[in-house]
Amino acid sequence: VSAAITCLGLTPGDVVLFPSYHCGIELDVLLAHDLSVRFYEVDSNLRVNIESLAPLVDEKVRAVYLIHYFGVPGPAAETAAFCKARGLALLEDCAQALYSRDDVAPIGHRGSIAIYSMRKTLGIPCGGAIVVNDDSYRLPRIVRKPPLVRTLKKTIRLLLLSVGAASLGRRNPSLMPHRLITAPGNRNEDGLGTLATNQRVPPSIRFDQSWRSVSISAVSKWLFRHTRHVNIAQHRRANYAFLLRTVRGIPSVRPLIPDLPAGSCPLLFPLLLEGSRSEFLRFCRARGLEADPHWPHVHPAFRASEFPAAAYLKSHVVALPVHQDLTDGDLAHMSSVLSDWVNTAQGTAEIRDTPSWPCATEAIE
Ligand SMILES: Cc1ncc(COP(=O)(O)O)c(C=O)c1O
Repeated sequence: VSAAITCLGLTPGDVVLFPSYHCGIELDVLLAHDLSVRFYEVDSNLRVNIESLAPLVDEKVRAVYLIHYFGVPGPAAETAAFCKARGLALLEDCAQALYSRDDVAPIGHRGSIAIYSMRKTLGIPCGGAIVVNDDSYRLPRIVRKPPLVRTLKKTIRLLLLSVGAASLGRRNPSLMPHRLITAPGNRNEDGLGTLATNQRVPPSIRFDQSWRSVSISAVSKWLFRHTRHVNIAQHRRANYAFLLRTVRGIPSVRPLIPDLPAGSCPLLFPLLLEGSRSEFLRFCRARGLEADPHWPHVHPAFRASEFPAAAYLKSHVVALPVHQDLTDGDLAHMSSVLSDWVNTAQGTAEIRDTPSWPCATEAIE
């Protein structure tokens, strides 16, 4: 994200239109560059009404930031047309959408620039990519090596997780595949995450300036080059479809994305939980299924009370793994945990349709 901002030539004081539903770390990067943000609405079905961006535009606005959630293509064509008509840059955030395609090409071809995160989908220690689609922008030269100790720590941690998983022989979908798709260090001590409501940026969404304009590490580059990229999207889609079938008939949960568009490569399987997310997370984890609250942190620069749909998503979405390396045994285990959940009191509670606020005050831990 940082390199993309440099590439677009955004300077302090420039305004970026930014989606109400976001992780927080991308927002922190923008703010670390002294950019200002104006939030636009993303509804509880992850839809954006592009026309609602129009009143936000004035002469200070330089760019629109669009996130392709969970690997599903967002409204890139419409946003690109909107930006073109107003002379704005479009930054497509494909961090969750590596290997995804829309009906024309791999995702990220509409914006002035697109960013990708290889580490999320592949579980390599670090690494992202930028694609520049507009000739008027030049890629910044990224020559600084990543901090050696941090890289080593991440690599060793990932190695230990995968070796530990294999040697324990646990049939546990939370092992290597899922661990690897959540960023090391993106979890707090108990691993469940908290909804931060104070004025400090929670550590997990604080941009670490030592990673500013840093290249991919040699080990990650090597791992990326030696990855078999074919079929990853297909495996993830198949795992996603399996989970869709599994959760059908569980009244207390609802898939946030019930129809995966053709060509998309899901990063995770997002589920909406009514009322009892923390119970569900504990239930899953106690049974070795590492479900995660998705983007639970509220960045202090974001007033969640003004965007009930985003607040609802932050406090209700749970992400399940769909990693390409999940085995049939892993999937069967996930299925049995979810089936057991139906037999609990909370598991039978019917999910409501209306997003409610204030729900983000639910403290997970
Ligand atoms: C939507 C979004 N964009 C960008 C990023 C940054 O990705 P990375 O940490 O791989 O640089 C994240 C990280 O969580 C994210 O969720």
